[in-house]
Amino acid sequence: MTTAASAPRVFSGIQPTSDSFHLGNYLGALRQWVALQEDSDAFYCVVDQHAITVTHDPKVLHQRSRTSAAQLLALGVDPERSNLFIQSQVPEHAMLAWILGCETGFGEASRMTQFKDKSAKQEHTTVGLFTYPVLMAADILLYQTQRVPVGADQRQHLELTRDLAARFNNNYGQTFTVPEPYILKETETIKDLSDPAKKMSKSSESPRGCLYLLDEPNQMRKKIKSAVTDSEAEVRYDPEGKPGVTNLLVIYSALSGTPVDKLESEYQGKGYGDFKGDLAEVVAETLGPIARATREYLDDKAELDRILVEGAEKARAVASRTLAKAYKKVGFYPPVAN
Ligand code: AMP
Ligand code: TRP
Repeated sequence: MTTAASAPRVFSGIQPTSDSFHLGNYLGALRQWVALQEDSDAFYCVVDQHAITVTHDPKVLHQRSRTSAAQLLALGVDPERSNLFIQSQVPEHAMLAWILGCETGFGEASRMTQFKDKSAKQEHTTVGLFTYPVLMAADILLYQTQRVPVGADQRQHLELTRDLAARFNNNYGQTFTVPEPYILKETETIKDLSDPAKKMSKSSESPRGCLYLLDEPNQMRKKIKSAVTDSEAEVRYDPEGKPGVTNLLVIYSALSGTPVDKLESEYQGKGYGDFKGDLAEVVAETLGPIARATREYLDDKAELDRILVEGAEKARAVASRTLAKAYKKVGFYPPVAN
């Protein structure tokens, strides 16, 4: 670790529930993971325990955890600057989740909108899916986290985490840092390319709505070029009136670093064709190399394992200290060594 001990503590997690992350994950959260590692003490976690809250295939989950870690490294998470690990390798997460679950009101948990959405899509809803936000709170609070880089859809879970931390501190004495969400306004919700009324998500109804980081560059170009716009021809930022074009402007600006108003004037008088053509190149050039780098990390199994075990060891060192405090506060006996 090159960061000073006084650097702010950052924690975030992502589920290994698909073969590839998508552009919404990247712009909404993962780019901030990379940026924040420069001046923070960062812990980044592939949350495989969250991934079994819905039906899963064990082999696929195991493989996806590896591909997820490899993609995070490929897109710039640097094991020299941050700690990358797999949640199931650090048992303290599940142990603290039990304690926090006993601090959470049933009604409070019932208000989580992501649970309502996800359970409506499942034939069979588990208790694990219901208590998912409590495990997320445990993830964050174990590390005395100050900042949590996520997209806007995690805001409510962060609120619950803050409430649980404050409540526990109030009931038992100071134990947890109360974390702040770190959500960048401009990219907090990237929209589906085929249906800009919805957020981009792996469960998109249209195969072209979601752009994956591991898509072939030509597939990426096609998805951008077939993105839904409107019947005008003006490249203008207008989230209400022109949600499709606005989403493309947000993506273009985030990937190129050019402010939205500058892009608007650059494309004044040109049609959507030029605009989409140029954006397609920016997307393919920026995201294209991630796939190759991911394959390289996956090909070196020993090195990837080494990085993850080292990350998990550093994570456990911090997590076990917080868990020991919480155990003592609630009156538990400490775990025995095995
Ligand atoms: P998920 O794929 O839902 O596990 O999300 C992983 C991370 O990406 C979380 O921080 C989400 O808030 C973020 N995220 C997911 N979809 C989007 C989106 N369409 N726009 C912005 N951020 C997103
Ligand atoms: N619930 C988050 C999502 O779906 C993933 C997550 C689990 C997480 N634990 C976390 C995010 C801790 C931030 C911090 O995207």
